[in-house]
Amino acid sequence: MDNRPIGLLDSGDGGFSVVKKVIEKLPNESTVFIGDNAHMPYGNKSQQEIIELTRQSVKFLLSKNVKLIIFACNTATAAAMPTLKKEVDQQIIGVIQSGSLAAARTTQNNKVAVVATPVTIGSHAYQKEIKFRNPEIDVKEVAAPELAPLIEAQKDYQTNLEAVKRSIAPLKDKDFDTFVLGCTHYPIIQEEFAEALGKEIKIVDPADQVAQYTYNVMKRDDLFSDSSNATHEYYTTGDPISFAQMGQRFLGEANLTAKHVDTENL
Ligand code: DGL
Repeated sequence: MDNRPIGLLDSGDGGFSVVKKVIEKLPNESTVFIGDNAHMPYGNKSQQEIIELTRQSVKFLLSKNVKLIIFACNTATAAAMPTLKKEVDQQIIGVIQSGSLAAARTTQNNKVAVVATPVTIGSHAYQKEIKFRNPEIDVKEVAAPELAPLIEAQKDYQTNLEAVKRSIAPLKDKDFDTFVLGCTHYPIIQEEFAEALGKEIKIVDPADQVAQYTYNVMKRDDLFSDSSNATHEYYTTGDPISFAQMGQRFLGEANLTAKHVDTENL
């Protein structure tokens, strides 16, 4: 048994999409989520910058005495996870391996499309992981630099829909049956993706499998909490008001509050 919280990090609001699935799957667990909104987007930064920023968030989570850390960010998983795994004792769980497993299990015609940040796409991490599961699967990867910052700006449905359509335009005429939301911000506008893609395409949100994998790891390593008083803390390096608004909206928790934290001065 281990009553310490689970730590989650993202470049910004996207981590809420993973927090949601983790709380649903592990209702007795406490969580601490930090969004590095002051430095988002990560998706067009250098690998070294992403490693340094992610290291600060990891340090913050360790100061909150977390028992394991989920990189609720595809970009940090692709660019920083291998390095940071070597630096901390706690287990670090990324989102790309789980998303790839879910995609490989979902496709019927062995054709998968992934849309993600330029860094995630440039790493070809999804292509490698999906092909590791099944080399027969054809993976089409598309970078969408516009989307994560737009989602943080909390625009209206129509604006989001137009941006999604622009972003997936390179996939026109591709006959994939499975589409991976390769950035944790994207589930926040999943309805817009569903409308732009049409009913035939199955949408994979890696967070579902991440929550399952986290559950499996905790069971194996005897990390479940035996408390029934789970608490959920939210921190951002940016504006705590708009961060909390996103959390309230996405998690359906009207009373959710967030605190500002300056990770550079830890
Ligand atoms: N939410 C992040 C991801 O999953 C990235 C957004 C960004 O900062 O570019 O990749």
